[in-house]
Amino acid sequence: GLKKKEANVLVVGLDNSGKTTIINQLKPAESKSHDIVPTIGFTVEKFSGKSLSFTAFDMSGQGRYRNLWEHYYKECQGIIFVIDSSDRLRMVVAQEELEQLLNHPDIVGKRIPILFYANKMDMRDALSAVKVAHLLNLDKISTKPWHICASNALTGEGLSEGVEWITGQLK
Ligand code: GTP
Ligand code: MG
Repeated sequence: GLKKKEANVLVVGLDNSGKTTIINQLKPAESKSHDIVPTIGFTVEKFSGKSLSFTAFDMSGQGRYRNLWEHYYKECQGIIFVIDSSDRLRMVVAQEELEQLLNHPDIVGKRIPILFYANKMDMRDALSAVKVAHLLNLDKISTKPWHICASNALTGEGLSEGVEWITGQLK
């Protein structure tokens, strides 16, 4: 049969932002895990969109593992950056990590699409996607296509909009 085109995506963001939960929601029912624990190092996961098969590098967001992210910048065709919209205290840390990523030599000259999930939108004190975009200075990104959606990884709300956007960028 016809084989779907494949794409590697790098999934980054601070620890506890919901990266693994998001990828788990996107996976087919039979390969979903039932208890999600903090990622150690990284894991490689597969999921499919309408016209693309994704290989996702689900990186740990813990401080001591963040130095692993850059080793995958060269081989990824897209980036998914996850933010805990309710973690106001660490929004500046997320912004700094994003800035480092954007300034990295393997990323800076590359027209790579970046999808942002303003995750945990169900939390009472969550910031809106517009507010998160503002705090992360997304309007300064001029050389790469980017898109932000609010998401709730527990229910899956908002996730497909993002996958459709990045699929459109990569196919
Ligand atoms: P690391 O692997 O440590 O980098 O974390 P991670 O970004 O993979 O986060 P993970 O998916 O492990 O989720 C962390 C916690 O947040 C878990 O308890 C999840 O159930 C919870 N969580 C994830 N997404 C949401 C969400 O949209 N809403 C709420 N309320 N909780 C969420
Ligand atoms: Mg994880």
